Amino acid sequence: RVVPPEARDLLRWYDRHRRILPWRAAPGETADPYHVWLSEIMLQQTTVAAVVPYYRRFLELFPTVRALAEAPQERVMQAWAGLGYYARARNLHACAQAVARMGGFPDSIDGLRLLPGIGGYTAPAIGAIAFGIPAVPVDGNVERVVSRLFAIDAPLPGSRKAMALAAATLGTDPLARARPSDFAQGLFDLGATLCTPKRPACVLCPWASPCLARARGIAETLPVKAAK
Ligand code: ADE
Repeated sequence: RVVPPEARDLLRWYDRHRRILPWRAAPGETADPYHVWLSEIMLQQTTVAAVVPYYRRFLELFPTVRALAEAPQERVMQAWAGLGYYARARNLHACAQAVARMGGFPDSIDGLRLLPGIGGYTAPAIGAIAFGIPAVPVDGNVERVVSRLFAIDAPLPGSRKAMALAAATLGTDPLARARPSDFAQGLFDLGATLCTPKRPACVLCPWASPCLARARGIAETLPVKAAK
């Protein structure tokens, strides 16, 4: 019998085990969209450990989106130096300028997607974390979690199927749908700390019982990577 994952079980686990990260609002508080946006852009191709010092330094140098918008491009590029993927830094600056002109971040996923550097992952991430929109962003961690939960043995990256499976884990439970930020970040933490690429810690996982890959003993073999 297939038991669907319960969103509440992930949220209960997250409430106990959430990582303390500088861009995370304290439980019950809302996060600043500028902080969420900056962290999600930095985290797209870079690890949490590498991002933390850059994130802190950016907020010291550019405490508001307006300060970032008004800074000369060289100062932004200098502050970014070492993070790599420099198109991200140029888009970051252009996005800050657009947001400053608009007087703030758009509060819809479609509105966010129109901004430079904001795409299929970052728009739902910012929507869920900063604006409480019940969306589930799919990054590498989330893709791994859902490919195991549903034992998907075909490549998923960036696909509609991955987005649909991730959305299915949020489900219809109103209590879970009221906490999209915690749900998204719970998925990130689950993927980063338990549902790891090698030797996943299934005994500690709040979704061990509905996980089809665990039941079949194939968790470590998933996700299947696309052929290059
Ligand atoms: N990876 C991407 N976004 C993240 C977040 N908000 N927290 C932890 N890891 C992440």
